[in-house]
Amino acid sequence: QPEPLVAKLLLAWYDRHHRELPWRVSPAMRGRGLRANPYHVWLSEVMLQQTTVQAVKPYFQKFLNLWPKVTDLAAANTDDVMAAWAGLGYYARARNLKKCAEAVATEHGGIFPDTEAGLRALPGIGDYTAAAVAAIAFDRQAAVMDGNVERVISRLYAISDPLPGAKPLMKSKVVAVTPAERPGDFAQGMMDLGATICTPKRPACALCPLNGECLALRDHDPERFPVKAAK
Ligand code: ADE
Repeated sequence: QPEPLVAKLLLAWYDRHHRELPWRVSPAMRGRGLRANPYHVWLSEVMLQQTTVQAVKPYFQKFLNLWPKVTDLAAANTDDVMAAWAGLGYYARARNLKKCAEAVATEHGGIFPDTEAGLRALPGIGDYTAAAVAAIAFDRQAAVMDGNVERVISRLYAISDPLPGAKPLMKSKVVAVTPAERPGDFAQGMMDLGATICTPKRPACALCPLNGECLALRDHDPERFPVKAAK
Protein backbone atom coordinates (compact mmCIF):
# COMPACT_ATOMS: atom_id res chain seq x y z
CA GLN A 1 0.00 0.00 0.00
CA PRO A 2 2.65 2.55 -0.95
CA GLU A 3 0.59 5.74 -0.67
CA PRO A 4 1.71 7.49 -3.88
CA LEU A 5 0.88 4.33 -5.83
CA VAL A 6 -2.59 4.12 -4.29
CA ALA A 7 -3.28 7.76 -5.27
CA LYS A 8 -1.95 7.24 -8.78
CA LEU A 9 -4.03 4.10 -9.38
CA LEU A 10 -7.18 5.67 -7.98
CA LEU A 11 -6.84 8.89 -10.01
CA ALA A 12 -6.27 6.92 -13.23
CA TRP A 13 -9.41 4.93 -12.47
CA TYR A 14 -11.36 8.12 -11.69
CA ASP A 15 -10.34 9.61 -15.04
CA ARG A 16 -11.92 6.65 -16.83
CA HIS A 17 -14.84 5.74 -14.59
CA HIS A 18 -16.01 8.79 -12.60
CA ARG A 19 -19.75 9.30 -12.40
CA GLU A 20 -21.13 12.33 -14.24
CA LEU A 21 -22.92 14.34 -11.57
CA PRO A 22 -24.51 17.79 -11.97
CA TRP A 23 -22.27 19.45 -9.37
CA ARG A 24 -19.06 17.93 -10.76
CA VAL A 25 -16.56 19.43 -13.15
CA SER A 26 -14.84 16.56 -14.93
CA PRO A 27 -11.04 16.41 -15.06
CA ALA A 28 -11.24 17.05 -18.83
CA MET A 29 -13.32 20.22 -18.40
CA ARG A 30 -11.00 21.43 -15.65
CA GLY A 31 -8.17 20.97 -18.13
CA ARG A 32 -9.94 23.60 -20.23
CA GLY A 33 -10.01 26.03 -17.33
CA LEU A 34 -13.47 25.35 -15.87
CA ARG A 35 -13.58 25.44 -12.06
CA ALA A 36 -15.99 23.81 -9.62
CA ASN A 37 -18.48 26.27 -8.14
CA PRO A 38 -18.05 26.29 -4.33
CA TYR A 39 -21.76 27.01 -3.80
CA HIS A 40 -22.70 23.99 -5.94
CA VAL A 41 -20.18 21.75 -4.19
CA TRP A 42 -21.31 22.84 -0.73
CA LEU A 43 -25.02 22.48 -1.57
CA SER A 44 -24.50 18.99 -3.00
CA GLU A 45 -22.40 17.82 -0.07
CA VAL A 46 -24.99 18.95 2.48
CA MET A 47 -27.77 17.25 0.48
CA LEU A 48 -25.74 14.04 0.08
CA GLN A 49 -25.40 13.51 3.83
CA GLN A 50 -27.81 10.65 4.58
CA THR A 51 -29.35 10.85 1.10
CA THR A 52 -28.46 8.96 -2.09
CA VAL A 53 -27.05 10.53 -5.24
CA GLN A 54 -30.16 9.63 -7.25
CA ALA A 55 -32.51 11.20 -4.71
CA VAL A 56 -30.41 14.36 -4.47
CA LYS A 57 -30.18 15.19 -8.20
CA PRO A 58 -33.65 16.76 -8.69
CA TYR A 59 -33.43 18.70 -5.41
CA PHE A 60 -30.05 20.07 -6.38
CA GLN A 61 -31.47 21.37 -9.67
CA LYS A 62 -34.54 22.80 -7.96
CA PHE A 63 -32.45 24.73 -5.43
CA LEU A 64 -30.23 26.20 -8.13
CA ASN A 65 -33.26 27.23 -10.19
CA LEU A 66 -34.83 28.94 -7.18
CA TRP A 67 -31.60 30.36 -5.72
CA PRO A 68 -28.81 30.54 -8.32
CA LYS A 69 -26.29 32.10 -5.91
CA VAL A 70 -25.52 31.64 -2.24
CA THR A 71 -26.61 35.25 -1.68
CA ASP A 72 -30.03 34.37 -3.17
CA LEU A 73 -30.36 31.48 -0.72
CA ALA A 74 -29.27 33.77 2.12
CA ALA A 75 -32.04 36.25 1.21
CA ALA A 76 -34.70 33.57 0.72
CA ASN A 77 -37.68 33.09 2.99
CA THR A 78 -36.92 30.26 5.46
CA ASP A 79 -40.35 28.71 4.91
CA ASP A 80 -39.69 28.57 1.16
CA VAL A 81 -36.36 26.83 1.79
CA MET A 82 -38.00 24.32 4.12
CA ALA A 83 -40.74 23.68 1.53
CA ALA A 84 -38.18 23.11 -1.24
CA TRP A 85 -36.31 20.72 1.06
CA ALA A 86 -39.45 18.67 1.86
CA GLY A 87 -38.80 15.02 1.05
CA LEU A 88 -35.05 15.10 1.64
CA GLY A 89 -35.46 14.49 5.37
CA TYR A 90 -33.29 15.51 8.32
CA TYR A 91 -34.74 19.01 8.36
CA ALA A 92 -32.04 20.37 10.65
CA ARG A 93 -29.83 20.19 7.56
CA ALA A 94 -32.08 22.69 5.76
CA ARG A 95 -32.04 25.11 8.70
CA ASN A 96 -28.25 24.88 8.91
CA LEU A 97 -28.04 25.33 5.15
CA LYS A 98 -29.88 28.63 5.41
CA LYS A 99 -27.77 29.79 8.39
CA CYS A 100 -24.58 28.97 6.55
CA ALA A 101 -25.70 30.83 3.42
CA GLU A 102 -26.50 33.86 5.58
CA ALA A 103 -23.04 33.76 7.18
CA VAL A 104 -21.33 33.51 3.78
CA ALA A 105 -23.42 36.43 2.50
CA THR A 106 -23.06 38.75 5.49
CA GLU A 107 -19.62 37.84 6.87
CA HIS A 108 -17.78 36.87 3.69
CA GLY A 109 -19.31 39.07 1.02
CA GLY A 110 -20.96 36.09 -0.66
CA ILE A 111 -17.63 34.31 -1.24
CA PHE A 112 -17.00 30.95 0.43
CA PRO A 113 -13.80 30.74 2.50
CA ASP A 114 -11.26 28.69 0.55
CA THR A 115 -9.60 26.76 3.39
CA GLU A 116 -10.74 23.82 5.49
CA ALA A 117 -10.43 25.88 8.72
CA GLY A 118 -12.31 28.83 7.23
CA LEU A 119 -15.14 26.58 6.07
CA ARG A 120 -15.23 24.69 9.38
CA ALA A 121 -15.88 28.00 11.17
CA LEU A 122 -19.17 28.51 9.29
CA PRO A 123 -22.41 27.54 11.07
CA GLY A 124 -23.64 24.06 10.14
CA ILE A 125 -20.40 22.98 8.49
CA GLY A 126 -18.79 20.02 10.24
CA ASP A 127 -15.52 18.20 9.68
CA TYR A 128 -16.81 16.21 6.72
CA THR A 129 -18.31 19.12 4.79
CA ALA A 130 -15.35 21.41 5.45
CA ALA A 131 -12.91 18.80 4.13
CA ALA A 132 -15.09 17.89 1.14
CA VAL A 133 -15.62 21.49 -0.01
CA ALA A 134 -11.96 22.43 0.60
CA ALA A 135 -10.78 19.48 -1.49
CA ILE A 136 -13.40 19.45 -4.26
CA ALA A 137 -13.99 23.18 -4.75
CA PHE A 138 -10.54 24.55 -3.80
CA ASP A 139 -8.12 21.69 -4.42
CA ARG A 140 -6.91 21.77 -0.83
CA GLN A 141 -5.14 18.66 0.44
CA ALA A 142 -7.94 17.83 2.90
CA ALA A 143 -8.67 14.26 4.00
CA VAL A 144 -12.30 13.47 3.22
CA MET A 145 -13.86 10.54 5.08
CA ASP A 146 -17.46 9.38 4.80
CA GLY A 147 -18.97 5.90 5.11
CA ASN A 148 -17.83 4.86 1.63
CA VAL A 149 -14.27 6.01 2.28
CA GLU A 150 -14.22 4.22 5.66
CA ARG A 151 -15.08 0.97 3.90
CA VAL A 152 -12.45 1.38 1.18
CA ILE A 153 -9.71 2.35 3.63
CA SER A 154 -10.57 -0.35 6.18
CA ARG A 155 -10.24 -2.98 3.44
CA LEU A 156 -7.13 -1.53 1.84
CA TYR A 157 -5.33 -1.70 5.21
CA ALA A 158 -7.31 -4.63 6.70
CA ILE A 159 -8.11 -2.52 9.77
CA SER A 160 -9.47 -5.02 12.29
CA ASP A 161 -10.26 -2.52 15.08
CA PRO A 162 -14.03 -2.04 15.22
CA LEU A 163 -15.95 1.10 14.33
CA PRO A 164 -16.51 3.67 15.69
CA GLY A 165 -13.26 3.41 17.70
CA ALA A 166 -11.21 2.80 14.56
CA LYS A 167 -12.16 6.16 13.02
CA PRO A 168 -9.01 8.06 14.07
CA LEU A 169 -6.82 5.28 12.66
CA MET A 170 -8.84 5.28 9.44
CA LYS A 171 -8.59 9.05 9.23
CA SER A 172 -4.80 8.88 9.61
CA LYS A 173 -4.69 6.43 6.69
CA VAL A 174 -6.86 8.76 4.57
CA VAL A 175 -4.50 11.64 5.43
CA ALA A 176 -1.55 9.48 4.36
CA VAL A 177 -3.03 8.47 0.98
CA THR A 178 -4.53 11.86 0.01
CA PRO A 179 -2.19 13.38 -2.60
CA ALA A 180 -1.14 17.03 -2.90
CA GLU A 181 -2.08 16.91 -6.59
CA ARG A 182 -5.81 16.57 -7.38
CA PRO A 183 -7.01 15.96 -3.79
CA GLY A 184 -10.61 16.73 -4.85
CA ASP A 185 -10.61 14.12 -7.60
CA PHE A 186 -8.96 11.70 -5.20
CA ALA A 187 -11.72 12.23 -2.59
CA GLN A 188 -14.46 11.82 -5.16
CA GLY A 189 -12.70 8.79 -6.61
CA MET A 190 -12.69 7.13 -3.17
CA MET A 191 -16.40 7.86 -2.81
CA ASP A 192 -17.20 6.55 -6.29
CA LEU A 193 -15.11 3.45 -5.68
CA GLY A 194 -16.99 2.77 -2.44
CA ALA A 195 -20.35 3.35 -4.12
CA THR A 196 -19.76 1.27 -7.27
CA ILE A 197 -16.95 -1.30 -6.69
CA CYS A 198 -16.01 -1.57 -3.02
CA THR A 199 -19.62 -2.17 -1.98
CA PRO A 200 -20.67 -3.51 1.44
CA LYS A 201 -21.76 -6.88 -0.02
CA ARG A 202 -20.05 -8.73 -2.89
CA PRO A 203 -17.50 -6.08 -3.80
CA ALA A 204 -16.34 -6.24 -7.43
CA CYS A 205 -12.67 -6.74 -6.53
CA ALA A 206 -11.79 -8.00 -10.02
CA LEU A 207 -12.59 -4.50 -11.36
CA CYS A 208 -10.92 -2.55 -8.54
CA PRO A 209 -7.91 -0.38 -9.39
CA LEU A 210 -6.54 -1.09 -5.89
CA ASN A 211 -6.88 -4.88 -5.99
CA GLY A 212 -3.11 -5.37 -6.13
CA GLU A 213 -2.67 -3.29 -2.97
CA CYS A 214 -5.65 -4.38 -0.87
CA LEU A 215 -4.72 -6.27 2.31
CA ALA A 216 -8.30 -7.45 2.91
CA LEU A 217 -8.39 -9.00 -0.56
CA ARG A 218 -4.98 -10.59 0.04
CA ASP A 219 -6.48 -12.21 3.14
CA HIS A 220 -9.46 -13.39 1.05
CA ASP A 221 -12.26 -11.69 2.97
CA PRO A 222 -12.96 -8.04 2.09
CA GLU A 223 -16.59 -8.28 3.29
CA ARG A 224 -15.30 -8.62 6.87
CA PHE A 225 -14.39 -4.93 6.79
CA PRO A 226 -15.17 -2.47 8.20
CA VAL A 227 -15.46 -4.36 11.48
CA LYS A 228 -18.30 -3.07 13.67
CA ALA A 229 -18.36 -3.15 17.47
CA ALA A 230 -20.59 -5.90 18.89
CA LYS A 231 -23.94 -4.51 20.04
N1 ADE B 1 -21.22 11.42 -1.69
C1 ADE B 1 -21.05 12.56 -1.00
N2 ADE B 1 -20.34 13.45 -1.71
C2 ADE B 1 -20.07 12.87 -2.90
C3 ADE B 1 -19.37 13.27 -4.04
N3 ADE B 1 -18.82 14.48 -4.12
N4 ADE B 1 -19.26 12.40 -5.06
C4 ADE B 1 -19.83 11.19 -4.93
N5 ADE B 1 -20.48 10.74 -3.91
C5 ADE B 1 -20.62 11.58 -2.89
